[in-house]
Amino acid sequence: MKNKTIIVSNRLPLQISIENNQDVTVSPSVGGLATGMKSVHQEGDSLWIGWSGLTEEEVNPEIQTQINNAAEKEKCLAINLTEKELDDYYYGFSNRTIWPLFHYFMEYTKFDEEQWKGYKQVNEKFAEKIIENLNDGDTVWVHDYQLLLVPGIIKASKPNVTVGFFLHIPFPSYEVFRTLPWRESLLKGMLGADLLGFHTYDYERHFLSSVSRILRHETQFNEITLKNRIVKVDSFPMGIDYEKFEQAALEHFEKTQDQKSELQVRLDQHLDTQPGSKMILSIDRLDYTKGIANRIQAFEHFLEKYPEFKEKVRLIMLAVPSRSNVPQYQKLKREIDELVGRINGKFSTVSWTPIWYFYRSMPFDNLIDLYTSCDIALLTPRRDGMNLVAKEYIATRTDLSGVLILSEMAGAAHEMNEALIINPNNYDQIADALKQAYEMPLKEQKSRNRIIQRRLKRYGIKKWADEFMKALEGTKVNHISKK
Ligand code: UDP
Ligand code: G6P
Repeated sequence: MKNKTIIVSNRLPLQISIENNQDVTVSPSVGGLATGMKSVHQEGDSLWIGWSGLTEEEVNPEIQTQINNAAEKEKCLAINLTEKELDDYYYGFSNRTIWPLFHYFMEYTKFDEEQWKGYKQVNEKFAEKIIENLNDGDTVWVHDYQLLLVPGIIKASKPNVTVGFFLHIPFPSYEVFRTLPWRESLLKGMLGADLLGFHTYDYERHFLSSVSRILRHETQFNEITLKNRIVKVDSFPMGIDYEKFEQAALEHFEKTQDQKSELQVRLDQHLDTQPGSKMILSIDRLDYTKGIANRIQAFEHFLEKYPEFKEKVRLIMLAVPSRSNVPQYQKLKREIDELVGRINGKFSTVSWTPIWYFYRSMPFDNLIDLYTSCDIALLTPRRDGMNLVAKEYIATRTDLSGVLILSEMAGAAHEMNEALIINPNNYDQIADALKQAYEMPLKEQKSRNRIIQRRLKRYGIKKWADEFMKALEGTKVNHISKK
């Protein structure tokens, strides 16, 4: 039997739901992990294990068969969680403790023993499923903050299995990480991996510093020496499936009038009614880390500071519903609704609404409509592990036009120096960047985008995965030489 890679993440690339109490429907998942890894998974010989999106309470044997078939078609294996597991592990510890803390939102971070227990329990459930499906010679690649304990559980029961781990969110500085009551257990869980990957060198450095100060392990360059083995740590900035976005954009421009989507027709109409006006795009999950409220307030400041741009710009905001059982996300939703309403009320004229706001997820083709139609992308996360939307926007600008305004707090900013880099808390700087973007000569747009495109093309998602897997393969030599 050929060796395979078992990819493990909380969220599968397919989202399963039940309609009319009996029919299983499948839709693509949103979020950088799912969209990025999907391209890797489609090509390779891999099995992807993750949560189905459903609870055990919702599922009966007939529905379970449909779930299994839908997942199998996509080379996936779906795990159901009980309502209690979901509350404690997903809505609880993952998204009320680790997510806010690792994004430096300490005031949102909850420390709850019961939720920690749930987190441990679900990590064990995932590990059991992996072990059930593991054959000799298989490699396990675990993803993200929901499963920090999984590498340790696998290594304890299958010491010879090669385990990789990649964190898709920031790893915070030691001063922040140390506040966690369960800091030792989380680090030990991660150290079950043979290779740990982070998006940026800063996250890697923060992790190494926590390991040496909390667990007192010897860390040297990018190696951690444990009693019986060495763990490698490195940074691998995640890329996108560049060709997929470039190709989609090229095809988009070939569409005839009657092939255009309704959204595209509306976007075109905007230009007809407001000649010379520019569209500013923002796309994110509705998450407090994304700086959506900051963005709207900075946009308001821009219209006040430079009133000559009234009726000359429109902010098109796509906010994708996310984790809506967590109170902070509900609060944010209310805040954004209120802000959009207030600003539209304040500035709208008979022929102009400054903000178009969509609260939903959009199919891929519509995302391409938005990317290709908007002259400026405004992405202002307060913290973001990477931000693939920034990379996708640039990849679709096949004629090299367009200006990206990007927060310095996004991992992606490290690779996109030619964008207009801003501090998301500095509204005045954002207002000035919007003016600069609006007025930027096409020649300058092109020369900036050309450099970024070349970089994104060279380090796409496949290269990212290959480099990770090559480095993981390399750790086998470590095992062997240590025996
Ligand atoms: N995305 C999507 N549907 C949408 C909006 C966004 O599939 O309606 C995708 C988008 O193309 C990108 C991902 O969601 O690949 C968001 O990734 P990013 O790294 O920007 O942020 P994350 O959500 O992972 O924090
Ligand atoms: C971020 C995380 C992913 C997560 C995604 C969507 O990208 O790093 O692990 O899948 O957000 O969030 P959700 O909670 O809906 O899976």
